[in-house]
Amino acid sequence: MPLTTAKPLSEAGDQTQALLEIRNLETFYGPIMAIRGVSLDVPEGKVVTVLGANGAGKTTLLKTISGIMDPEKGRIVFDGHEIQGREPHQIVRRGIVQVPEGREVFPLLTVDENLSLGAYTKSNRAEIAQARELVFSYFPILAERRQQEAGTLSGGQQQMLAIGRGLMLKPRIMLLDEPSLGLSPLLTQEIFEILRRLNQEAGMTMLVVEQNAAVALDLANHGYVMELGRIVMSDTAERLAASEDIQRFYLGHANEGARGERRWKKRKTWR
Ligand SMILES: Nc1ncnc2c1ncn2[C@@H]1O[C@H](COP(=O)(O)OP(=O)(O)OP(=O)(O)O)[C@@H](O)[C@H]1O
Ligand SMILES: [Mg+2]
Repeated sequence: MPLTTAKPLSEAGDQTQALLEIRNLETFYGPIMAIRGVSLDVPEGKVVTVLGANGAGKTTLLKTISGIMDPEKGRIVFDGHEIQGREPHQIVRRGIVQVPEGREVFPLLTVDENLSLGAYTKSNRAEIAQARELVFSYFPILAERRQQEAGTLSGGQQQMLAIGRGLMLKPRIMLLDEPSLGLSPLLTQEIFEILRRLNQEAGMTMLVVEQNAAVALDLANHGYVMELGRIVMSDTAERLAASEDIQRFYLGHANEGARGERRWKKRKTWR
């Protein structure tokens, strides 16, 4: 039975062109096909999430978008331009910024220095100062700790700094790789609330990949589910959150099977 729900938004009846459109993407590690024909859309001003267990291909997908990896096949269209296979610096200049998995910051540099390095494509001082103020307005704790070495910040603050560093580039879209990873539920809530404000107040478009379906679907407008390099479900975040499969396998609302167990893949329908 075809997985009819696994279509990108625009093919599902939305006529407007999305800011980021991915079509039939395939990415390999040597002989290993990690992304197996992925198509998805991120409309401007929206938050889209890709849910998936360990090894589903989430990070590889983001790395392919940001040019760290080259796809074998498929198209990545950003703002009407094909960008697949371009160099990372060219892609960053178009306004696509990835916040990598594992909150990478420079531990021996201060918060301020980390933010300055974030603005590496910008040379206009006023613009950089303005970006820094924007970061501090969303993450006041970073302003308080601006002279502190990043390595001495808490995990949650380091994640804030990683996001803040991405914001220094004034992106048109942010690609966030598991922002909840390793954080307490409380800190995760706090960070996702800030992401929500960034979307609603600053209009920031986001593609968020997550294993934490609850917070990701609460933030997102639309969600995709990725399994072994393929998109197996696509729906509004609201409908996904209510769906039995998501409830059972991502939100832990049933006793059978641990999250990540693949038994659910054998189900024939996705509603
Ligand atoms: N450097 C690599 N060389 C070979 N295979 C890799 C490499 N990195 C990832 N893979 C494989 O590609 C697939 C997708 O990995 P990827 O890191 O994109 O998954 P993920 O969804 O981000 O997982 P996680 O939730 O653990 O971060 C996995 O099967 C993984 O083993
Ligand atoms: Mg990953």
